[in-house]
Amino acid sequence: MALLYWGACMAYEWNSDLETGNEIIDNQHKGLFAALNKLVEAQHQGKGVQELGTTMEFLTVYVLQHFADEEKLQEEYNYPDKFNHKSYHNDFKRTVGELVKKLEAEGYSDVLLEHTIQIMADWLVNHIKGDDFRLAAHIQLIKDTKK
Ligand SMILES: [Fe+2]
Repeated sequence: MALLYWGACMAYEWNSDLETGNEIIDNQHKGLFAALNKLVEAQHQGKGVQELGTTMEFLTVYVLQHFADEEKLQEEYNYPDKFNHKSYHNDFKRTVGELVKKLEAEGYSDVLLEHTIQIMADWLVNHIKGDDFRLAAHIQLIKDTKK
């Protein structure tokens, strides 16, 4: 994933490297991407304290919806790695839950903001470009054999 610099602000650039080719999955990934960039922008504008809570709310809803949709697709297309994939999703849900709890218990900090950005960026790069690409390739293969 490329990093772009605009002014003093660093943002992540969406590009075709991140596209799985599955429209539902890609659109949801773009939503996560947009939330990440909003948070990075807020950090650089010194507005992280306002944005972090919003990002946490977004992530809480996002992980439930997006992972449920992906898992439904895996059932539908009988994805052989579905159990492992589900466990990766559960790990990320747990991580998001921990971030939310930390924010509630300790309040905002620059360290928590930075940590949240790092976690979202790592997930985008590692999970999407690895696990989700394999899933999308499987779905495409099944679609092609049914033609
Ligand atoms: Fe996934």
